Amino acid sequence: MFKNFLTKFSKDMAIDLGTSNTLVYVKDRGVVVNESSVVAINTRNDQILSIGEEASKMIGKTPPHIVVSKPLLDGVISDFEVTEKMLKYFINKVQQENSFMAPRPKVVVGIPLDITEVEKKAVEDAIMSAGAREVHLVENVIASAIGARLPIQDPSGNAVVNIGGGLTEIAIISLSGVVAWRSLKTAGRDFDHDIINFARNEYNLLVGERNAERIKMQLEGFESDKEVPLKIRGRDLITGLPKEISINPLLILHCMDRSVKMIVENIKATLEITPPELTADIYQKGILLTGGGSLLKGLDKVIAKAIRINVQTGDDPLTCVVRGLGILLDDKNLLKEVAVPSSSREEETVR
Ligand SMILES: Nc1ncnc2c1ncn2[C@@H]1O[C@H](COP(=O)(O)OP(=O)(O)OP(=O)(O)O)[C@@H](O)[C@H]1O
Ligand SMILES: [Mg+2]
Repeated sequence: MFKNFLTKFSKDMAIDLGTSNTLVYVKDRGVVVNESSVVAINTRNDQILSIGEEASKMIGKTPPHIVVSKPLLDGVISDFEVTEKMLKYFINKVQQENSFMAPRPKVVVGIPLDITEVEKKAVEDAIMSAGAREVHLVENVIASAIGARLPIQDPSGNAVVNIGGGLTEIAIISLSGVVAWRSLKTAGRDFDHDIINFARNEYNLLVGERNAERIKMQLEGFESDKEVPLKIRGRDLITGLPKEISINPLLILHCMDRSVKMIVENIKATLEITPPELTADIYQKGILLTGGGSLLKGLDKVIAKAIRINVQTGDDPLTCVVRGLGILLDDKNLLKEVAVPSSSREEETVR
């Protein structure tokens, strides 16, 4: 009976805890939190100054006593304490909007494929100590396929490439499970670093991370015929003074060729280890791109050309994982089918 009360009144949540962004989905309300995974801390008194978008605006602009921390690295928690505080802040924000006495929520959270038991336990512990009453782990690739409404329960191959900020995960899914996969630490953030390196090496211009990301988002695509020069601002490494230069956008796009090639090579390698029956399905259905990194214009076409299979970017790829996790809040049977055993439950079965 008490459980019924909890189910009725608690606002269960789906959380996509990403390297770049954290999203929270609440049943009947949709995506209620969509913020950068960034926390700004005042080291003089150890107080948190801001979390999310506000903290992200401080990147590269802080005096020495303010530290802007990104507590996730390559899809996993690298700073447990800060992650816990960030989650607590987001969960509280959602709870307060509902009622001041809301019971602790059930949480479904996404995890990467290539995760150790210790990293998995860190996710569970952070969510529990941030205020959840129970936590269920689901692989991000499975969640993104569900979010894109792919028929993952069928005995048929579904190919998903989730390009996030720190991680690209490639998975072939059939009968609600991952049959073949590859994961690499080349993703959206590396495109930004490519731009930073390009500006430094070719133009002696030092560009900040946020600036590089902004330029990446302005690009018109690999096959665009628009060649309106893009303005890049930074510090001239020779004079030490601020400088603005105009660069042909195609040159900027091609500075990312190596990173794009890494992704393509890993997609090919995944297809090579996929059972032929499933390869045939994928050839027919194509490959789905999800995650914010897939918003790099023209990336779908470059991948399609390289692997000679149809490639499509999903609708709203930045929210695909959290929407998939949200669907699982409502579908207990599917959640049972796809949930990864919790680290404590695995310990119990080992014993
Ligand atoms: N319009 C855009 N064009 C190009 N890249 C974009 C665009 N919008 C967002 N991105 C990139 O998407 C990435 C973030 O995507 P996403 O939120 O899916 O990652 P994440 O889930 O936080 O990271 P991960 O899954 O690797 O842990 C960032 O690198 C960001 O620069
Ligand atoms: Mg992600």
